[in-house]
Amino acid sequence: MIEKVSTLVLFGATGDLAARMLLPSLYGLDSDGLLPDDLRIIGTARTELDDAGFRERADAALRAHLPEGFYSAGVAERLVSRLHYVTLDITDQAGFAKLAGAIGDPCHGVAIFLSTAPSLFKPVIDGLAGAGLACPTVRMALEKPLGSDLESSREINDAVHAHFPEDRTFRIDHYLGKETVQNLLALRFANLMFEPLWNAAHIDHVQITVAETFGIEGRDYYDQAGALRDMVQNHMLQLLSLVAMEPPGDLNATAVRDEKVKVLRALRPITPADVEQTTVPGQYTRGAIEGVPVRGYGEELGRDSATETFVALKAHIDNWRWKGVPFYLRTGKRMPMRDSEIFIQFKDVPFSIFASRGATTSPNKLIIGLQPEESIELRLMAKTPGLDRQGVRLREIPLDIGLANAFSEYRRRIAYERLLLDLIEGDPTLFVRRDEVEAQWQWIDGIRAAWAEKGMTPRPYAAGTWGPSAAIALTERDGVTWHES
Ligand code: BG6
Repeated sequence: MIEKVSTLVLFGATGDLAARMLLPSLYGLDSDGLLPDDLRIIGTARTELDDAGFRERADAALRAHLPEGFYSAGVAERLVSRLHYVTLDITDQAGFAKLAGAIGDPCHGVAIFLSTAPSLFKPVIDGLAGAGLACPTVRMALEKPLGSDLESSREINDAVHAHFPEDRTFRIDHYLGKETVQNLLALRFANLMFEPLWNAAHIDHVQITVAETFGIEGRDYYDQAGALRDMVQNHMLQLLSLVAMEPPGDLNATAVRDEKVKVLRALRPITPADVEQTTVPGQYTRGAIEGVPVRGYGEELGRDSATETFVALKAHIDNWRWKGVPFYLRTGKRMPMRDSEIFIQFKDVPFSIFASRGATTSPNKLIIGLQPEESIELRLMAKTPGLDRQGVRLREIPLDIGLANAFSEYRRRIAYERLLLDLIEGDPTLFVRRDEVEAQWQWIDGIRAAWAEKGMTPRPYAAGTWGPSAAIALTERDGVTWHES
């Protein structure tokens, strides 16, 4: 396989993802001098536009979406001069021929970034192949949703595989492009102190929370997906697999992904017999976010819906390392705050020498903050200063590493910067392999089938709260409280 490509094709180039994420990411890379000098970027979509029109739109998107103070006319001009545009109607093969013409000889290396509705993957792939664009120097990036269940995901994977072998297929999970997510590997495998404790003997439980304050914001797709498929199937299971995987033998794509897929395959299936105790779907009703009244999900949608906008669940990984350690996952729209974190609670000390002096201890905790701030915090017990005449007093204190401060000289990047660069350079480590995606779907399909069998529908929660009260009961039954920052 050739390494760097010299053409990047963006399907859906006039869409929201391109404006908010892809173009600003390419700008960031260009501003750091990381894009190949000869890289051309061809945008394509159904909208009728020419190169000049696309360049104008791209410049407007950069001005609107780059962080304040980052836009510079010089860099924008350089990036914009790389841009070209081809109008393409997916149902018309002539458009693919036009695209092939704009690309020229694909032997110099082409990366195609496809973000489209799942039903369009096959026609696009076939169209590309029909236009001679599936040759060995072309690689393909696929943005989620990759299907809506195991079967449809397999169909997409088969359609892609018919023309693009696995080593040229780059499945995107943008969480893997986040700096703190990659930092999990550094924290676990570049430090000696955690690994001996990283198992069922020393860890009581793990919580993974991804909470968002916004609603569905007019995204039609969401109502067909729901929180389980939109967030848990991909991002949250990837986080879980990075927390739980065995140390890989190397940092290469095969070694890392081999270890992640073992975790995904060891997830204990959730069945109709236990789904009511281990999962809580929810849907937001009217409420308030930071004091501002907001509508309920059905009102936003304009009709009733049984789609969950929240899900909390308890997962188990059936292997030696994690036997008996619950992994509590929770994600939702219209939560009180934007907050994503991994919370690891260790076991309590086996015997407290302070108990006879009236002091209680609490277990150590490791909290890895992903959003809005990137942080790592270790909660330790310390003695409260004093002469202890009324007994020893202990208090939990944080050992806090604000990554933004520790690395203040570095610019905070959009997750897609890393992923686009890896795509251009041909490094698949941070992309999801077919066996991972399919293991993820298999586990999620089991939950959906159990919900259907038990007739479980989302429980209401007021916007601006942490989900239905049953989500609290889910952990409290085990004597565990959700961590709130
Ligand atoms: C997307 C989901 O994959 O991730 C969205 O479709 C969600 O519903 C988004 O809002 C969250 O991404 P981030 O990077 O803002 O946490």
